[in-house]
Amino acid sequence: MNLKPTKIGRNDPCPCGSGLKYKKCCVGKEFAALAADLEGLYARKYRIRVKTPKDVEAIRRAGRLVVDTLELVAPRIRPGITTDDINTWVHEFTVQNGAVPAPLNYRGYPKSVCVSVNEVICHGIPGQRVIKDGDIVNVDVTSILDGYYADANQTYFVGSPGPDARKIVGVARECLRRGMAMVQAGNTVGDIGWAIQVHAESQGCSVVREFVGHGIGFDFHEPPQVPHFGRKGEGLALIPGMVFTIEPMINLGRKELRILEDEWTAVTRDGSLSAQFEQTVLVTDNGCESLTPWED
Ligand code: MF3
Ligand code: CO
Ligand code: CO
Repeated sequence: MNLKPTKIGRNDPCPCGSGLKYKKCCVGKEFAALAADLEGLYARKYRIRVKTPKDVEAIRRAGRLVVDTLELVAPRIRPGITTDDINTWVHEFTVQNGAVPAPLNYRGYPKSVCVSVNEVICHGIPGQRVIKDGDIVNVDVTSILDGYYADANQTYFVGSPGPDARKIVGVARECLRRGMAMVQAGNTVGDIGWAIQVHAESQGCSVVREFVGHGIGFDFHEPPQVPHFGRKGEGLALIPGMVFTIEPMINLGRKELRILEDEWTAVTRDGSLSAQFEQTVLVTDNGCESLTPWED
């Protein structure tokens, strides 16, 4: 299992899911006994459904398609296209590959992909907005293949980016990398959020609080929530077989957001640029595997 009991503080929530502090609960127990039915405990207490190797294989296939979709779209993003063009490309490619675009009709969402430009943090609805030189464009693709979900996004430069665009995209990419570097059994979701927040804030940027990473695989959004801010050692301990996204949204200015009239589009309240990168990851016996791996 490769769990590291020493990482659980005496005042942290007990990993058995009792809701008690570790010191008031399982601290004296043989760790092997505690680890034996961790999956059952996670299912009962947190509704987290740990994935089998067969599930992982299927999510990996969905993830391959998501990455192929991003790679199809990326070179086509040029000044003069509309965000709706991106929607058409994603929708057609997904369906051609025997998959379903998860966003379409999800809680009333009207399109097959989210496209978020410049000050748009996330959930931009494709439409007639024309992409121009210097923009940054995030494309967030979630596909359902053989009933399994995978979710990833990237932020792209259009033409020649200015210094602000370069900065926010670089910081957001590094935030995801640092978050993923924390993924190993025995670490906690707080470790992931902490690593992301420390980097973003050290660069004078801010972390969006309202949207978080999420369990994924059998459904679009499963427990647990994975905040992109937090404290080292806090929150749920990671166990092998957990599959979730990490998807930090990083603002160049302040962290506050506003939702537009369409009830989906989230924009920075101060109008500053925002960038995001997302991957679907698996907790393995010896660290982390991306199920949506891309060439950086
Ligand atoms: N793909 C987004 C995420 O990373 C969710 C989009 S929900 C939608 O969780 F309805 F807007 F598509
Ligand atoms: Co996601
Ligand atoms: Co996504």
